[in-house]
Amino acid sequence: MNYKTFYSLKLSEIGLGTYLGNPDKETDNSYYNTIKKAISFGVNVIDTAINYRNMRSERVIGEVLYQVERDNLVISTKGGYIPVDSDYAKNPQEWFRRELLDSGILSKSDITPYGNVLTPKYISWSFNRSLKNLKTSYIDVYFIHNPEDQLQFLSREVFYERLKSVFSFLEEKVQEGKLKFYGLATWNGFRVPESNKQFLDLPYIVNLANEVAGDNHHFRFIQLPYNLAMPEAYFLKNQSINGEKMSTLEASEKLGIYTYISAPLLQGRLLSNLPEALKDILKVPKENLIPIQFVRSTPGVGTVLIGMSKEEHLKQNLEIENYEKVSKETIETLIKNLKTG
Ligand SMILES: NC(=O)c1ccc[n+]([C@@H]2O[C@H](COP(=O)([O-])OP(=O)(O)OC[C@H]3O[C@@H](n4cnc5c(N)ncnc54)[C@H](OP(=O)(O)O)[C@@H]3O)[C@@H](O)[C@H]2O)c1
Repeated sequence: MNYKTFYSLKLSEIGLGTYLGNPDKETDNSYYNTIKKAISFGVNVIDTAINYRNMRSERVIGEVLYQVERDNLVISTKGGYIPVDSDYAKNPQEWFRRELLDSGILSKSDITPYGNVLTPKYISWSFNRSLKNLKTSYIDVYFIHNPEDQLQFLSREVFYERLKSVFSFLEEKVQEGKLKFYGLATWNGFRVPESNKQFLDLPYIVNLANEVAGDNHHFRFIQLPYNLAMPEAYFLKNQSINGEKMSTLEASEKLGIYTYISAPLLQGRLLSNLPEALKDILKVPKENLIPIQFVRSTPGVGTVLIGMSKEEHLKQNLEIENYEKVSKETIETLIKNLKTG
């Protein structure tokens, strides 16, 4: 396993994601075995979110953390979407009313039509529940989940104020020793042009963290999708630093932000019917390695999160570690060809 060093962390270049799968016992068992096996193979980045599989993904990771050396792992989770608690899945509305509305943690006006919330009070509840689910005293990286959703309903000014107040809350968690770093996990925000309503301006947001905590702020991570079908993170020059236009991956490097890539396989859809020539171009012998090789070889990529609930998929995907990355030129030629069809 190749590792990357970032501040105090040593991160595996392949991480394990826990988004997909049914919220049931069988999938729990499968994730449990796969995560344990992944750790034994040297994967130390594990990503989840409170809402994944109705909190069950966090709870499975919690079961694993109970049994392994916690210190070497880099555990990330996310808050922003209102989850269902699988322990109350029979009556989620009742649980939601009692746990979140009646307690005053949120009011209905805080919630977007997609179930997203960006207030310190709610993120605080979510953060504490994640600690409990994960059975850990600290989280390595806490992501605000798809905050760009809010931009469809809030003015940019109010959005940035809210983001800043959540950053203040997360900086407090760092001071308390409950968190190491925080960041934004996104789907559209960093992949769209500046004119788009959901666009996230990375240098501006880093500056907000600076205003909250000075140069030593802990806003050091972003997460965004990037794959053969969604290559914008590398080619779309939508960020601007000192008047220079550049891609989000390039801006991240310049700003000292580590990147996690989500959906490298386009949620499993990039695993078949790929042109045979891609194996030669990317210098890998098997089809399932094509999308992983493309992502890990792209400059600016930190850790590639692959969703894997099955041990057999883990083993197939980790074969990538036997192959050298391809050059920046190869990736750029490939993207140019993808763009022109
Ligand atoms: N906005 C966000 O913050 C956001 C959005 C999406 C994803 N994420 C994160 O990024 C992670 C990765 O993205 P993703 O899970 O959505 O998609 P993905 O990694 O592109 O694809 C995962 C899917 O591919 C399947 N798979 C993996 N390896 C395979 C193989 N060798 N052969 C056949 N099938 C294989 C998995 O099946 P099995 O489960 O059966 O192994 C799963 O269904 C997520 O788990 C999550 O942690 C974040």
